[in-house]
Amino acid sequence: MQDLPNLVDPFARAITYLRVSVTDRCDFRCVYCMSENMTFLPKNDLLTLEELDRLCSRFVDLGVRKLRITGGEPLVRKGIMQFFEAMSRHLASGALDELTLTTNGSQLRRFAKPLADCGVRRVNVSLDTLDEQKFRDITRWGRFAQVMDGIDAAQEAGLKVKLNAVALKGTNDDEAHRMVEWCGQRGFDLTFIEVMPMGEDMGDGLRLDQYWDLKDVRRHLETRWTLTDIPYSTGGPARYVRVEETGQKIGFITPLSHNFCESCNRVRLTCTGQLFMCLGQEDEADLRRVLRESGDDRLLDQAIRAAIARKPKGHDFDYSRQTVGGTMTRHMSHTGG
Ligand code: GTP
Ligand code: 5AD
Ligand code: SF4
Repeated sequence: MQDLPNLVDPFARAITYLRVSVTDRCDFRCVYCMSENMTFLPKNDLLTLEELDRLCSRFVDLGVRKLRITGGEPLVRKGIMQFFEAMSRHLASGALDELTLTTNGSQLRRFAKPLADCGVRRVNVSLDTLDEQKFRDITRWGRFAQVMDGIDAAQEAGLKVKLNAVALKGTNDDEAHRMVEWCGQRGFDLTFIEVMPMGEDMGDGLRLDQYWDLKDVRRHLETRWTLTDIPYSTGGPARYVRVEETGQKIGFITPLSHNFCESCNRVRLTCTGQLFMCLGQEDEADLRRVLRESGDDRLLDQAIRAAIARKPKGHDFDYSRQTVGGTMTRHMSHTGG
């Protein structure tokens, strides 16, 4: 049993995608992700870069083919390039198909080129608006010009850019067309995400009034653009259409209106070494304890397999009938989305 390479959960889903949050810190304070005065974890709780390497390499040995580095903001973690350089050996060996990251874009001017040198081919940049004032309202601390410059740097370094926009009623609903147009001009794919009820201690954390069903977003877009369903997939949860007028792809990530858990292929590792088997459930496995107790990789493999054997069927997020179900107290920054 122990020597079988592949991780398969109780619902026969192969786990081939690991999302790794390398820090809980961020230089922004997006309203749907963090409160303004977050308390961050003490440094000793964090996995060191060497520990992250050891743990991620176990997952790769057990069959993970795609590694997405997240945060917080992954590029504010000290020494982060050392970790990307270490992981690039799994690309070189052919064990990994993809090494990538989700970022707010603020540090890309500095890091885009070194990332490309490590074999990163594309980045997902979280950007919900092209309006400077709104950008300040959403991110609280973000500087729009810096993100634009970071995106330019990514393109200059030859990275493919995908934008992630959380669809927020009353905030960026009037910008959907403009974002499609801008992404078309710049050659970026664009993914809309339904807002999820996470971090409910933030007061307005339930966000029922902001929830914008992506079926309605699609209908709205179709008043101006011709959208054709395509079978394209990145191994992530988005379903894609092609915008005939621009040739770009638009993805829809619909955890609320159309549950995609049946095809879930991923688990999430936090920066403290907790493995979350589902973004929308509380259960976690403490891999840091196993990691620090022993240098024996077989024990780690056992702990990983035991965790995957507990992976739940899916989340319970629910905004239907004007109530909010399945909420998570955990902040999105904890698991990196
Ligand atoms: P691609 O490789 O480009 O497809 O990336 P991805 O969509 O897997 O990753 P990305 O970081 O761009 O994900 C965007 C957002 O989609 C995440 O931050 C989450 O908000 C949401 N998301 C991704 N995976 C899941 C999931 O398993 N469940 C839920 N509920 N939401 C998810
Ligand atoms: N609901 C949906 N998406 C969210 N993100 C952060 N918080 C939420 C939420 N409550 C997204 C960010 C980013 C990714 C890491 O997660 O916009 O694209
Ligand atoms: Fe930072 Fe991303 Fe959270 Fe915004 S959504 S506060 S950029 S981690």
